[in-house]
Amino acid sequence: MQEKLSIHGAWSNRWVFILAATGSAVGLGNIWKFPYITGENGGGAFVLVYLVCILMVGIPIMVSEVLIGRRGRQSPINSMKDLAVESELTTKWSLAGWMGALAGVMIFSFYSVVAGWVLYYVAGMANGDFIDIGSEMAGKRFETLLGDFETLLIWHSVFVIMVMAVVAGGVNKGLERATRIMMPALFVLLFILLAYSMTSGAFGQGFDFLFHFDPSQLTWDSVLVALGHSFFTLSLGMGSIMAYGSYMPKKASIGGTVVMIALLDTLVALVAGLAIFPIVFANQLDPGAGPGLMFITLPVAFGQMPGGHIFGFLFFVLIAVAAWTSAISLMEPAVAWMVEKFKIKRLPACTALGVLVWALGVACLGSFNFMSDFKVAGMTFFDLMDFATANIMLPLGGLFIAIFAGWKVKQYALQDELAMQRFWFSAWYFAIRYVAPVAVAAIFALNLYNKFA
Ligand code: PHE
Ligand code: NA
Repeated sequence: MQEKLSIHGAWSNRWVFILAATGSAVGLGNIWKFPYITGENGGGAFVLVYLVCILMVGIPIMVSEVLIGRRGRQSPINSMKDLAVESELTTKWSLAGWMGALAGVMIFSFYSVVAGWVLYYVAGMANGDFIDIGSEMAGKRFETLLGDFETLLIWHSVFVIMVMAVVAGGVNKGLERATRIMMPALFVLLFILLAYSMTSGAFGQGFDFLFHFDPSQLTWDSVLVALGHSFFTLSLGMGSIMAYGSYMPKKASIGGTVVMIALLDTLVALVAGLAIFPIVFANQLDPGAGPGLMFITLPVAFGQMPGGHIFGFLFFVLIAVAAWTSAISLMEPAVAWMVEKFKIKRLPACTALGVLVWALGVACLGSFNFMSDFKVAGMTFFDLMDFATANIMLPLGGLFIAIFAGWKVKQYALQDELAMQRFWFSAWYFAIRYVAPVAVAAIFALNLYNKFA
């Protein structure tokens, strides 16, 4: 029997899928967001909740997304629609795909702004601008950047073009080619920098901050942040992994692949934390400094060390590569859907979407200068995009996916697609039917209760 394939293309083999999905997962979420939200939420206890969420909620949902994508072989919106039809359900399930494509656009808008900062730092490091910089100067420099609308605009635009150029190339000539070049580079850079950070001293205090469990630091708010981040960091709840799964070869096993991707993503986040917190404490900086944490602490550390600007340069290149491979996957669900729906080529689809995300990104840029007074519920536009996606839309999307896969899709379809050993199938089935939906619903409910009661 001829294997059904996506009209968009297919990964050459299972390794390309693993690398591409890891490229999607490993991004600013690991290196920029994880350390700063861990700092804001008090350290160890937050990390523990996050790890539990990855294991009990993230991994089962990632299995479901790959499964739905590979069985549907289309954009998430249309894959969910077809699977709903296969199981004699209403096609309204495709609304989860819609919310995901929208979330992708919204995440991209602030992602591109931060990636723009990263590119600016790549250039600055190459220039030797940060040699000998102290923590006060580094803080000032970052603040100056945030106030400089033109510079921000340039780097944001560069990033949008970089991403759209790859996505326009298509699954094989764009996504797969970028994956094959960038992912090995990413691992090499990470390895060099890990070795560097382990020799830089002040390791113990940073380690302690990450792994010392102090439950008094936990609030329901921080539990929601940990849950949301487990979705964000694994690229779940919005269709990126589903889209990538739709290009996956049929004979590759889903379970093992997913565990590997989740493991790599978690490792990178912990390594990033171990690279950043020792520097924070060694320089008497504040771990709760927020989104600027990485952009202030790292230049200080690299500035003080012999040859530091070379490592600093490499570090920011690493972050740029990680952000690039993730941003590509943020756009794939919407681009694939546009190609299917309007029967157009990828280039016009990418151009139209590029203009949209660029414009939304400009509003995010403005949050740091000309739009800093615009606030909804105390949040700037930038914060709002982050909060609405990570803490609401992704967990909600994940909840729909869990209910769809766990309760709605016919069991024979699940077993056929997963081809797992009986024990593992039962474990997954239990997690996706009960553990994941109950955890997401309970954390939502308790947060609402705490807000209004
Ligand atoms: N997982 C990416 C990160 O950690 C962000 C992302 C979210 C990418 C959702 C795609 C989809 O940075
Ligand atoms: Na991640």
